[in-house]
Amino acid sequence: MSRALDRLRDWKADTAVVLGSGLSALVPESRADKLSYSEFDALPRPAVLGHAGRFELARAGNRSVIYALGRVHLYEGYSAVDVTALIRLLSDVGVQRVVLTNAAGTLNPDVAPGAWMMLSDHLNLTGTTPLLGQLQFIDLSEAYSVRWRAEFRAQAKELRMSLHEGVYAGLLGPQYETPAEVRMLRTLGADAVGMSTVLETIQAKALGLEVAAFSCLTNSAAAVRYEALRHADVLTVGASAASPLAALLSATLARRF
Ligand code: HPA
Repeated sequence: MSRALDRLRDWKADTAVVLGSGLSALVPESRADKLSYSEFDALPRPAVLGHAGRFELARAGNRSVIYALGRVHLYEGYSAVDVTALIRLLSDVGVQRVVLTNAAGTLNPDVAPGAWMMLSDHLNLTGTTPLLGQLQFIDLSEAYSVRWRAEFRAQAKELRMSLHEGVYAGLLGPQYETPAEVRMLRTLGADAVGMSTVLETIQAKALGLEVAAFSCLTNSAAAVRYEALRHADVLTVGASAASPLAALLSATLARRF
């Protein structure tokens, strides 16, 4: 086994947090160590602006947590298996529960950019799965842990943080949606739309991990409000919205559960 893998395993984290576009500000200030993804043969390298490609080891209370800054996406040309290598590696080093974060467009006209949504469920509209060819008929009736969601909800209330809950539609990308696609997604019951997370959740559930996920609603999806969407704006809004979720994560993860 590689030395980098040993260092990650020695941190004895049972929880990991995967950070999406522009959300690196979610890592607590005091970190014990950093490891670049390039030290791990099993991991593809992120190429998209705003995705750093490293692990940071930090504590929430007495709990050791691995923060994974950066992920790769299907739209970069990676396969569903590549996209989920990070989740398999985290499981391999002992992680049992994972918080996935992402930037997403809101499909609800009443939600302003910068708000946070905890995922209650998802629609996998990518057309693929990391389990392709494996004949693993895993149960996804509770993709996002009911128990853990209740903890986050209660903590958000205590912190007086406004936290929406809803269904995330995961699409292939990289283009943003047309107005007709946005209308379709709302008809299908989605509250937010993005280009990540769903395959990671499927892989995590297949490995028996508990999953929670949060979308930073960085913009209104097309047709909700008519404004041109730019990746740079998604990153800026994500960075400025980070602090309430950072507080929610540290407080909830620091608790015993
Ligand atoms: N659509 C898809 N993905 C996104 C969006 C969006 O509006 N915003 C951030 N990621």
